[in-house]
Amino acid sequence: MEGPYTLVSFVLGGILLLLAFLLQQKKSHERSSSSTTSSIPRGYNWTLPFFGETFDFLKDPHNFHLKHIARLFGETFYASLFGENCIVVTTPEASKWVLQTAQHYFRPGYPRSVTTIVDATESIYQPQFHSRMRKIVGSTLYPEALQNYVKYIDAVARISLSSWKFKKTVNLYDEMKRYTFFVASKILCSLDPGPELEEMALNMEKVKNGFLSLHIDLPFTRYHAALKARDALYRSFKKIIDCRRNEGRRYNDMLEALMLSDEPGQKFSDAQLQALILSLMFAGYETTSAQLVWAMKRLHDNPEILEAVKAEHDAIRKSKLKEDSLNWGDIKEMKLTLRVIYETMRTSHLDVFIPREPLQDLEYDGSLFPRGWKIHASISAFHLDPKVFPDPYKFDPSRFENGGPPPNTYMPFGNGNRKCLGSEIAKTQMLILIHHIVSNYRWEAAGPDQGIQWWAVAIPKGGYPIRVQPR
Ligand code: HEM
Repeated sequence: MEGPYTLVSFVLGGILLLLAFLLQQKKSHERSSSSTTSSIPRGYNWTLPFFGETFDFLKDPHNFHLKHIARLFGETFYASLFGENCIVVTTPEASKWVLQTAQHYFRPGYPRSVTTIVDATESIYQPQFHSRMRKIVGSTLYPEALQNYVKYIDAVARISLSSWKFKKTVNLYDEMKRYTFFVASKILCSLDPGPELEEMALNMEKVKNGFLSLHIDLPFTRYHAALKARDALYRSFKKIIDCRRNEGRRYNDMLEALMLSDEPGQKFSDAQLQALILSLMFAGYETTSAQLVWAMKRLHDNPEILEAVKAEHDAIRKSKLKEDSLNWGDIKEMKLTLRVIYETMRTSHLDVFIPREPLQDLEYDGSLFPRGWKIHASISAFHLDPKVFPDPYKFDPSRFENGGPPPNTYMPFGNGNRKCLGSEIAKTQMLILIHHIVSNYRWEAAGPDQGIQWWAVAIPKGGYPIRVQPR
């Protein structure tokens, strides 16, 4: 008799837990909406306890957004994701309001456990530290300052592609991650490709893998491996910092700018410097490499555009010897390629959402954004909305001619006081790499199109293996 009773109490217990959870969810809606005239946006009333709609979202976030809008929940809707109450905004107007107009009423909504993998000091959450970091880093990355980096990036691109001559097939995503890591290491700390940097690149990959794992710190977990890899990277940065203090040489890179910016009482500690360097390396690592993969795929899939791009780069090379480096004037000539990059970023689903957390209850256009909830600004939702970009799935770089899309409808680098600091360097390094690939290689996909691999960033499934041949 014991068996059936145990089963019945187990089932009843489960039902009670479920009811308690749903009641709590309902109450949280009611409590939050009672103090104002606005209300929580609509969404599914019944979802799995704790997991909510997370699995559906992870499978295909873009389709998830479309499904909610098609269900007439509206372009701002409620969703239960990652164990949290979320409000998703999918229009340019609402995203601009969250990221820019009302920016001071929000803080970043990234899970703390994710950001602390890279920034053990958690400094980036402190507003004073953040604005100081923006001032210094911004001053080293504005377009005029970038001109000095072109020849370094050119050299790194050549080194990164040099092995392609001896290979038949490469995994483009892996290759692009190495390239972007090498560029970041050069610009941030003047490090050149070599065995030490290869070792650091391996650690970087382990740190990245930690984002995708359950954050359980046990010796056999990926999260544990990520923390160990992070600490190894911190040790490498510490060695560089100590070395610079002793030798007193000038480097003209970002680490130097950060080390020299000793406003009284505001010196960055060594721990903060290490965390900052890793955060900056990380910010451009997957994003830029994913965009490069998409750009190469879009060019491959649109042969007429590829031919026009090749002609643009052949014209640049005409006046140069093979070994001559690109210069800033050449970069400015890459107008069509830049439009290809813009259109790639519009269509690549990279900004599936930018998360924020309201510091107090807020209202926008009849919707209540309760304090402490998560607000997802889904940039890729409106980048692919036919009302904003007609025929949105057509790859058409000419959208960016004559001034491009209307203001605040295109935000691949975010918006407001946390807008990407690396947008110019990212574009420059993409232009330079595309130049060297299209000038020297032909390529074709090494397998059938398998759709999108969504996490940690959206890339073609499998990382887009390609067959390469010298041109
Ligand atoms: C195509 C490549 C890139 C894309 C699509 C991209 C996109 C973004 C986006 C959407 C944000 C805003 C995040 C938010 O609001 O929470 C951001 C922030 C940031 N990005 Fe990028 N990024 C790219 C490359 C880079 C590179 C190469 C760097 C190198 C330094 C960089 C440095 C940063 C930094 C430091 C921030 C944080 C700004 C802040 O919190 O004030 N990014 N990026």
